[in-house]
Amino acid sequence: MMANKRIDQPTGTETVGHEWDGIEELNTPLPRWWLWTFYATILFAVVYVVLYPAWPLIDRATAGTLGWSSRGDLARELSKAEAGREAVFARIAATPIEQLPASPELMQAAIAGGAAAFKVNCVQCHGAGAAGYQEFGYPNLNDDDWIWGGTLTDIEYTLQHGIRWEAADATRVNYMPAFDGVLDAGQVGAVTRHVLSLSGKAQPDAAGAEAFANNCAACHGPAGGGMPVMGAPALNDAIWLYGGSEAAVKKQILAPRHGVMPAWSGRLDPVTIKMLAAYVHSRGGGQDPAPAAPQAAPTGDVAQGTKADTDG
Ligand code: HEC
Ligand code: HEC
Repeated sequence: MMANKRIDQPTGTETVGHEWDGIEELNTPLPRWWLWTFYATILFAVVYVVLYPAWPLIDRATAGTLGWSSRGDLARELSKAEAGREAVFARIAATPIEQLPASPELMQAAIAGGAAAFKVNCVQCHGAGAAGYQEFGYPNLNDDDWIWGGTLTDIEYTLQHGIRWEAADATRVNYMPAFDGVLDAGQVGAVTRHVLSLSGKAQPDAAGAEAFANNCAACHGPAGGGMPVMGAPALNDAIWLYGGSEAAVKKQILAPRHGVMPAWSGRLDPVTIKMLAAYVHSRGGGQDPAPAAPQAAPTGDVAQGTKADTDG
């Protein structure tokens, strides 16, 4: 056969040497690079089948000697992400809340975590946007008006211990007395006008001012600025927990309502509470800690007391 090999004249290509009824075949082998690539893919396939899951069986595939699976891969990625979160949580846990703002990255993580926890634990009372519901006395957390103080530390304390939550140690508590029967109807009308005058909604009332100084200033401050240490809201800022109509103010004077919020320590872990405090603080009205200089003794004008919603 070899002997029959010859160069084909028209193409200049060697023939393979076979000849059938005068028909010959030109010897045009596959290019080398192609052939080697082809062998390489075969080799790759064999190695792959040995190492990785490959041949389908009835209810699974051959496992491969590496034991790899896409499910295991996913689990690994997830646990890596989880470990990352754990690390952030651990750093938040180790950072006193007032120092969180010094680390913007931690603060951001805390706010994001707090926003998620807020959706689960707080929206039913404070609303999805944290704007509160005045008709129920659930305060707006977006304004810069705080009943119990708006620094990170204040808010964290409020969350830990709750408000008038008797089951909790050291819960925030202060009960406004009912003035029904203590003040006569004329005095109640006068002091109501005085309260409304503090935010410009009524003319000043001398008798009301006197009744206020005698009965109310101890908690709300001489000028009605409120006292966050006592949970006595500011009355001079046109932001109301229970409403700023004459009727609503009068009702609070005669038969005060006392807002209750559960304590969250024990229900939520400390890191979640810290993150919630960071989130609430970030809602717009968060206060910075008082400057190091000792503050003046609380007078009515000091306080950012208060709370809640917009003008009723
Ligand atoms: C059962 C209803 C309820 C739930 C749930 C609730 N709160 Fe409150 N929260 C209240 C009430 C009522 C007050 C106002 C208490 C008062 O009159 O002093 C309040 C007050 C607050 C205050 C104090 C505001 C200030 O001006 O000092 C903060 C902060 C707060 N809530 C945050 C939260 C966060 C965060 C959550 C979720 C973990 C939450 N609350 C869940 C009812 C609730
Ligand atoms: C012992 C302290 C104390 C005294 C005294 C007191 N209050 Fe209050 N007052 C409070 C507290 C605490 C609240 C907040 C109640 C709550 O959070 O549920 C409040 C709430 C109010 C509110 C509702 C504010 C709002 O934003 O809706 C009005 C109005 C008010 N007080 C007026 C008065 C007047 C007027 C007097 C005097 C006749 C008076 N208070 C005396 C502690 C006091």
